[in-house]
Amino acid sequence: MTRATTFSAWLRAAMAATVSGFMMAAPAAQGFSLDVPYVPTPPEVVDRMLEVAKVGPEDFVIDLGSGDGRIAIAAVQDHNAKGSMGVDINPERIGEARVNAQRAGVADKVEFREQNLFDTDFSAATVLTMYLLPDVNLALRPKVLELAPGTRVVSHAFDMDEWEADHFERVDGRSVYMWIVPAKVEGRWQVEGPQGALELDLTQNFQEVSGTASGADGQSQPVSGKLNGASIELTVGEGDGARRYTGNVQGSSLLLSEGGADSSSWKGTRL
Ligand SMILES: C[S@@+](CC[C@H](N)C(=O)[O-])C[C@H]1O[C@@H](n2cnc3c(N)ncnc32)[C@H](O)[C@@H]1O
Repeated sequence: MTRATTFSAWLRAAMAATVSGFMMAAPAAQGFSLDVPYVPTPPEVVDRMLEVAKVGPEDFVIDLGSGDGRIAIAAVQDHNAKGSMGVDINPERIGEARVNAQRAGVADKVEFREQNLFDTDFSAATVLTMYLLPDVNLALRPKVLELAPGTRVVSHAFDMDEWEADHFERVDGRSVYMWIVPAKVEGRWQVEGPQGALELDLTQNFQEVSGTASGADGQSQPVSGKLNGASIELTVGEGDGARRYTGNVQGSSLLLSEGGADSSSWKGTRL
């Protein structure tokens, strides 16, 4: 057993103990099994999770493993999201969540689906929330990284292993992590600008970018950078001669501007 598995097994037991050890065992007898026990997020943490993700009128929030519906309901009731969805495998939780949405007067904006979160299409989320377990977060990570660049992902308590959070804070002793799904820039790009052409060969590690830039003279320089959704910052070269670019990744095109006194625009296409 790996260290992570041991930790997660311990955590599962600890969470189950918090809810008297009954809730993980009981649903199996009813024909489904939980990957995570039911432990609700305290209201102040719910509020902060939605604040950190800057939920607003343009957002559609999906909570994976929605419990009594508190996150999905707060998203539309207190943070003005245009809609939300909660998914839970336990029909009892879904029943409670629907009653809670009715009571809160937001049933027309919130949907609760009784289904397995691993079978759920959550691609409509502009904000994805979760209070799950480390191994469940990790199993979801490849699908999360396929969400539209700029989608915010907020997790109560657990991280995404080596995908470092773009924001982390503690709220009343609880950990809140937030990631912004990065665009995909890995590969070779031909970038044209007023001072000629550059070939970028980029490697991506989640939101971190590195690689090399080669000019027409065949000289190669190191590149480092960072993605914030579809926004990108790149530094070509090092020290005083370094050139800094900011811009956007739009599918197979890269639009960059170089700051400073001789501000200029550059356009990249994939090779
Ligand atoms: C820790 S609780 C979080 C509840 C809520 N999101 C909150 O923060 O208050 C985890 C929830 O996930 C649900 N769950 C566990 N395994 C699931 C699965 N495979 N698919 C969907 N829901 C699941 C449980 O029923 C439980 O309600």
